[in-house]
Amino acid sequence: MADKYKIIGPLYDFLSTIYSGRQIHKCKIAMNDGLKTDDKILFAGVGHGKDAIDAAEKGLKVTVVDLSATMLKNLEKNIKGKQFKHPIRLVHSDILKFDETEEYDQVVANFFLNVFPEDFMVTVMKHLTTLVKPEGSFVVGDFHYPKGNIFTRAFQNAYWYVAVFIFTVFAKNAFHKIYNYPKHMESLGLKVEKTESFNVLFVPSLWSIKAVRKQQNKPQQVDAA
Ligand SMILES: C[S@@+](CC[C@H](N)C(=O)[O-])C[C@H]1O[C@@H](n2cnc3c(N)ncnc32)[C@H](O)[C@@H]1O
Repeated sequence: MADKYKIIGPLYDFLSTIYSGRQIHKCKIAMNDGLKTDDKILFAGVGHGKDAIDAAEKGLKVTVVDLSATMLKNLEKNIKGKQFKHPIRLVHSDILKFDETEEYDQVVANFFLNVFPEDFMVTVMKHLTTLVKPEGSFVVGDFHYPKGNIFTRAFQNAYWYVAVFIFTVFAKNAFHKIYNYPKHMESLGLKVEKTESFNVLFVPSLWSIKAVRKQQNKPQQVDAA
């Protein structure tokens, strides 16, 4: 399959710094705290993986999955020479073919789900939640859903549409409105536990959302009379 990130991939981190200062990076690592050393964390559609490196530096067992060889090559460059308690495990795969069910304390989708059209995004989100252990968490870092007065919402929309336009042209990502991730998470049975917003020019333009996968109710044992 053609690598859609061949052209824009090498520039990805540079563009994200130009576009947000350090805000995109802060958004991506916001929920790495709160896990214990040796906990297992998965980064889906990891890209250059500065968020995964931050997690590995915190002693977590990190697995990353990405479909793009270009993106994974950049991640390998970023890892080079670094020592972690647990080496980062790199998987070159379509996330839908990655089926380590209920293996992870936390599954992270940073700026990943927005590459898909909405119906398919929900399919991918649903799949990602199956990889989370019961009581584990699922994190989405992405563009902030428009909220607030008309000027705030206009800025949030403009900020998103400039980015999605560039990625539709250069990486053939889906062109769509900003997704309401908390709503989708709740409708998949997750419980949103924490959200943190990140400002660009004083406007909340990015956010990280952490939701918990509730323990499945075990069937009640009925004692024979
Ligand atoms: C917009 S980039 C985000 C990268 C990174 N998470 C970040 O926050 O900078 C989307 C990433 O998802 C990867 N990707 C797209 N479709 C995928 C799929 N079906 N399975 C795994 N990775 C995929 C792309 O190769 C790309 O690295």
